[in-house]
Amino acid sequence: MEYKFTEFTSKESFVTAAAERIAAILKENIQTKGWATIILAGGSTPRSIYAQLSTLSDIDWSKVFMFFGDERYVPHDDPDSNYVMVRASLIDKVSIPKENVFAVRTEMPYEHCIEDYEIQIRSFFSRKQVDVIQFDLILLGLGKDGHIASLFPQSKALDEELKLVTSSTTDEFKVRERITMTYPALLSATHFLFFLGGSNKKNILDKTSQSTDYHQFPASRILETGKAEIMAFFG
Ligand code: 6PG
Repeated sequence: MEYKFTEFTSKESFVTAAAERIAAILKENIQTKGWATIILAGGSTPRSIYAQLSTLSDIDWSKVFMFFGDERYVPHDDPDSNYVMVRASLIDKVSIPKENVFAVRTEMPYEHCIEDYEIQIRSFFSRKQVDVIQFDLILLGLGKDGHIASLFPQSKALDEELKLVTSSTTDEFKVRERITMTYPALLSATHFLFFLGGSNKKNILDKTSQSTDYHQFPASRILETGKAEIMAFFG
């Protein structure tokens, strides 16, 4: 299982390097094809990375299109919403046009917002007149149980091979009902950046990197692509 791993010895260097790596990949895609797509990770680790990213002045945000790898089924003013976290730490601080941000519309009934998000994604790529749905950059965290986005171990969402978005529930973490991108959406990407912050991430990374059972360790299927970069500060 090949992936690039970089461990940082301070949170500051971790956050700075992570933001600069995101910026570099966005700029590379803007330069080569005129636009860039990014799937944002939720949770808590990315918050400081997004804040640092918002300070970098050389990104043409009008050419960046943001999506969410997963969302909790809560309103867009709920502190547990990934959209709220990203809006506060990044979106509200940069000049990205609102039509470039594709949020999960959790104001809709649960099943409707899942179908709606699938339509939002597919419509975006069809407007870009590309034949294959392929995200440029996916940001991921790693849950203490090995989940990515809201693809939890032993979840039926792990076996979805056609839809780009599906439902997912958890009794282990806050907010039971979730909306998550599936492997078909995630595996389409050309770059994966994992941000691991905290001492509890080393153990789960070791277990995940030694497994090929993605039903037990969902992140392993991403690591198997050979296209993942892991940036870590274990604290
Ligand atoms: C979420 C995230 C989730 C997160 C992991 C790790 O909605 O919670 O998308 O997949 O990335 O739980 O979270 P931390 O990086 O905050 O530990």
